[in-house]
Amino acid sequence: MKKNILVLGSGGREHAFVWSLLKDQKIGKIYCAPGNGGTQDIAKNINLDINSPKQVLNFVKKNNIDLTIVGPEAPLEKGIVDYFENENKLIFGPSKFASQLETSKIFAREVLNKCNVNQPNFYICHTSKDIKNYYEKNGLPFVIKVDGLAAGKGVFVCHELNDVNHAIVSIFDENNFGKSSNKILIEECLKGEELSIFAICDGKNFKVLNTAQDHKRIFDNDLGPNTGGMGAYSPTPLSTVSLITEVEEEIYKPVLNYMNALGFPFKGFLYAGLMLVDGKPFVIEFNVRMGDPETQVVLPLLQSSLYDLIYKATRQELDDCKIKNSDKTSVTIVLASNGYPNEYKKGQKILIDDDFLVFHAGTIKNKNRMIVNGGRVLNVVGFGNDLDDAIADAYENVKKIQFEGMYFRKDIGKKGLTYKSKNILEDKND
Ligand code: AMP
Ligand code: GLY
Repeated sequence: MKKNILVLGSGGREHAFVWSLLKDQKIGKIYCAPGNGGTQDIAKNINLDINSPKQVLNFVKKNNIDLTIVGPEAPLEKGIVDYFENENKLIFGPSKFASQLETSKIFAREVLNKCNVNQPNFYICHTSKDIKNYYEKNGLPFVIKVDGLAAGKGVFVCHELNDVNHAIVSIFDENNFGKSSNKILIEECLKGEELSIFAICDGKNFKVLNTAQDHKRIFDNDLGPNTGGMGAYSPTPLSTVSLITEVEEEIYKPVLNYMNALGFPFKGFLYAGLMLVDGKPFVIEFNVRMGDPETQVVLPLLQSSLYDLIYKATRQELDDCKIKNSDKTSVTIVLASNGYPNEYKKGQKILIDDDFLVFHAGTIKNKNRMIVNGGRVLNVVGFGNDLDDAIADAYENVKKIQFEGMYFRKDIGKKGLTYKSKNILEDKND
């Protein structure tokens, strides 16, 4: 029997999920809620409020959906997984409690402490006065984070007093984060190269899918404000075999065992944002979902069936699975609408004049025309036998797309090339 699937979300990550799932012959009907112009071409878009577990469950019951896959974190925080499981409906993602590894930065820090995992020193506080006292006692630099979800905007890396004041204005005077800033985390400011590791977890076992490096700032050379991510490549030369083993043994295993012992086993994708400090991996953050745009480079390299992995993970059978990846490198360039991450224009017509891999994000299809409908519009993907070739391929593909006000970074992957030339690698990646 073919399986009917519902994917929740509307970004490039969800387009990549749908694209990857469709490679499996076992997939029957595939729906995406709410989806985008790209998912509309390969799945059926459904206009649901994905933050309403009840609405999603009603759709699933009426349409004989066999498996629901959650893309973003917000429905997880709403407890959609607990809601489905109470009704015996198959869904892939962590419970509301286990999702706190992302939805409460303080929860994650405390779990990591219990597990003796390398992380920055931290201090928990509540008021602007606490922050000022911390500054007076400890000086700069340090990092201020709001505890709860903040759409990637709740982290303030403070190198100057001005940065501290800016954070205080944003958190307390402008109240930009609501309840998410009821508690504040102050962290030691670490220095090092960053990478992301993605694992699929079944509550007992886990498998690393791959590694990637994101480019979070809007401008070249990592300048300007933070965005959702302007491009990524996979795998990163920072992720040597020995590093991955170290992360498995010293981060994933203890954390997943601890969640299990608490009585809240973690089932879902667990994405660790790491910083290498003197060669040692320190946890900067956890996300309880796949990354965007990292999914758009990780899934095209995955040769195992994504459906099988997720299905096995829902049955605690991941131990039997093997992760098979292509030995190519992939790069994705995010094409944004000028002005993003601040105000930007929508409604422009998009011209794509070739056949290559492109995952849609902020697009909508209107009478067969693809139209800009968000800040991050498209994710163009390129491949190569090494990072240089993959970067060249991705930028060659970018030339085949046009829309008014198209903006993209010109240096995606460049940092990865410097690791190679600086010979940061301790051993080979194979
Ligand atoms: P996060 O949303 O927690 O990933 O933080 C966003 C970015 O802030 C990270 O990718 C890092 O570049 C930076 N950052 C967060 N925490 C720290 C820290 N303790 N030390 C240095 N940089 C940090
Ligand atoms: N690319 C960063 C994230 O998905 O949170």
